[in-house]
Amino acid sequence: MDCIHIHGGKPLEGEAAVQGSKNGALVLVTATVLIKGQTVLHNCPQITDMDEMFGLLKALGCQVKREASTVIIDASSLHTSDCPAKQVRAMRSSVMLLGPLLGRCGSVSMERPGGCMIGKRPVDIHETALTCMGVRFQKDEKRIRAETEGLKGAEICLPFPSVGATENVLMAAVLAEGTTTLYNAAQEPEITQLCHFLNEAGAKITGIGTNCLMVRGVGKLHPVTFTVMPDRIVAGTYLLAGAATRGIVTVKNAPVRQLTSLLDVLRKMGAMVRYEENAIVLDAVRAGKPVPYLRTAVYPGFPTDLQSMLTAVLTRAEGSSAIEETIFEDRFKIVRELQKMGADLKVENNRKLRIYGVSKLYPARLTACELRGGAALVIAALMAEGESEIRGCDYIRRGYEDICRDLRLLGADVEEKRE
Ligand code: UD1
Repeated sequence: MDCIHIHGGKPLEGEAAVQGSKNGALVLVTATVLIKGQTVLHNCPQITDMDEMFGLLKALGCQVKREASTVIIDASSLHTSDCPAKQVRAMRSSVMLLGPLLGRCGSVSMERPGGCMIGKRPVDIHETALTCMGVRFQKDEKRIRAETEGLKGAEICLPFPSVGATENVLMAAVLAEGTTTLYNAAQEPEITQLCHFLNEAGAKITGIGTNCLMVRGVGKLHPVTFTVMPDRIVAGTYLLAGAATRGIVTVKNAPVRQLTSLLDVLRKMGAMVRYEENAIVLDAVRAGKPVPYLRTAVYPGFPTDLQSMLTAVLTRAEGSSAIEETIFEDRFKIVRELQKMGADLKVENNRKLRIYGVSKLYPARLTACELRGGAALVIAALMAEGESEIRGCDYIRRGYEDICRDLRLLGADVEEKRE
């Protein structure tokens, strides 16, 4: 089993660049199912979640070729919409194939995604929305089985702006008959990017970047070449690593405008932020102030995917902080690991956390049990003087190309060892 070893306790100083967006690229890969011909995606992150998604597409009959960060997908040869259990189980984002497969084949069958370490993850919003478009779902607790005689445009209002449901409706609507209007749509940058990608392929989507999207169905999409945007959560991770160690870091190729909520928090903590061409320079030497209250929220609010990392940083703030997690129901799993390091935190219910800053964290043997929680433990270890070990690296590799390489560029003493 691989293990990350970190000698923490020193301020970071250095420069690292941000990889392509995981969530942005994954959904584009599912969207290629709608295109008969070669789609070229540049700047795809080289992470294990992408490998799983390519495996899934290949199992459906698509051709996938990858050269470094460029991926060429040809879905002309897709011959089934029955998704194999192995890849579906490995990755929650397989559910993003619902809309594209219904659009392309008129049917889909896949294992129902179960809950995961961050809480229950139902797909009821996806199902209700797609039902409005003429899809029939069979009642089955274990599998999602759905079919349609033809997708029809509809007026749909989501009860909650789910990222995945918004993406599925968009991908179902582009080839549907008539116009779909989606109210209360999610506005995350990954959705804006998906809309631009689909429009470049011939779709007719308006309202991009707002919570009301209108899609006029077209007969077919054509092949495109597209560059995936940088990963805002990875950029946030490296900024928070800088803040945690009260260092000075430059994060290159950062999607600056997508990071406003995080940069506001960092400034309130006492950090200074400067922009250079496509780079953020964070001087966190004085970033010791606590955050009295912060809630995670849908975009442009503070992203749930950065919550665990901010929690780790705040364990050493000069005072007490409070965080409310409003998106997922069980996203405080790292608390026990942080307590092993001497952090003082209290979960008030599954949704609220109080963090009383301590002057020092101690090194420890830690275990990651999910992706972003794993990155948060890496950040905690960077703060603790001495050597910490983190197991469960496979979770971290799902979303980071090489977190150790990037942290070394930022001046950290970190390496991954095979044991
Ligand atoms: C996506 C991101 C994930 C991010 C999340 C919120 C991908 C691959 N993943 O996940 O990294 O943390 O957005 O920004 O892009 N819900 C329901 N019923 C549904 C759908 C969702 O109750 O049918 C609930 C979920 O359980 C969760 C909340 O809504 O509590 C948010 O989910 P959603 O916005 O759909 O997130 P994902 O698309 O799963």
